[in-house]
Amino acid sequence: MPDRSATQGFDPSGIDEEAWTELERQLEATIPVYDKVNKIMTLGFDKGMRKHVRSHAKPGMKVLEVGCGPGSFAVDLEDVDLTCLDPSAEMLKVCKKRVNKARKSRGEKPAAYVEAIAEEIPLPSDTFDRVFCLFSFRDFKDKKQGLTEIFRVLKPGGQLVICDAGKANWLHGLVGRLYMGTFVQWVARIVTRNPNHPWKWLARTYTHYGTHSYYKNVMKEIGYNDVKARLLFPGMSSRFKARKPE
Ligand SMILES: C[S@@+](CC[C@H](N)C(=O)[O-])C[C@H]1O[C@@H](n2cnc3c(N)ncnc32)[C@H](O)[C@@H]1O
Repeated sequence: MPDRSATQGFDPSGIDEEAWTELERQLEATIPVYDKVNKIMTLGFDKGMRKHVRSHAKPGMKVLEVGCGPGSFAVDLEDVDLTCLDPSAEMLKVCKKRVNKARKSRGEKPAAYVEAIAEEIPLPSDTFDRVFCLFSFRDFKDKKQGLTEIFRVLKPGGQLVICDAGKANWLHGLVGRLYMGTFVQWVARIVTRNPNHPWKWLARTYTHYGTHSYYKNVMKEIGYNDVKARLLFPGMSSRFKARKPE
């Protein structure tokens, strides 16, 4: 167990149970204004980032979204056999209502919903063509264990695509911390009208988040191949891609 006593429970490898439990509480508090704050703080670029990640899914594929939250990404995933996973019952409730409504309007069958953490996925091995993590990887308690479980449930040849707040390297991380610590905080404070808004905790997870090379190395250790990472325009978000070998 890493000693994270000097960093209130956070480091690039994961988050202590107590800090994670509070983080979950804070994440649930974002639900009513989640999409609105995301849109403003990314200057509307969140739409394009989600579209880019979505383009990795092809019609008919079996797709898992890990950390689906209130369904902001899953709602627009069309023509796939979809499973949404999240540890928060509150998030799943909102996601289910929203995603099933959109799927029904497109003539698709409802998605499956699983209340669980990435580190312990209660689903069979070799099941999914794609696993997506949109703005949830940063919140995993144990990043390596979560990536290992995702590797297990991917089909051979299947692909993981992660999109999260960008931290290409140490220097880019400094710029990111400035953006998270000022602009994002102002936006959240104005929208929520609450000086103790939950985005304070989201900035904390970014501070202790690892760089591209840190997580690429973890993925390679687990056995993923074709591991890539890059910033998505305009540099606020990172996209990782990795495959389970055939
Ligand atoms: C910021 S929301 C992301 C929502 C959505 N995916 C999106 O596209 O905006 C992060 C989500 O990750 C979930 N989460 C936190 N820890 C997790 C874990 N260990 N495993 C899976 N999901 C987790 C949270 O409950 C929350 O719903």
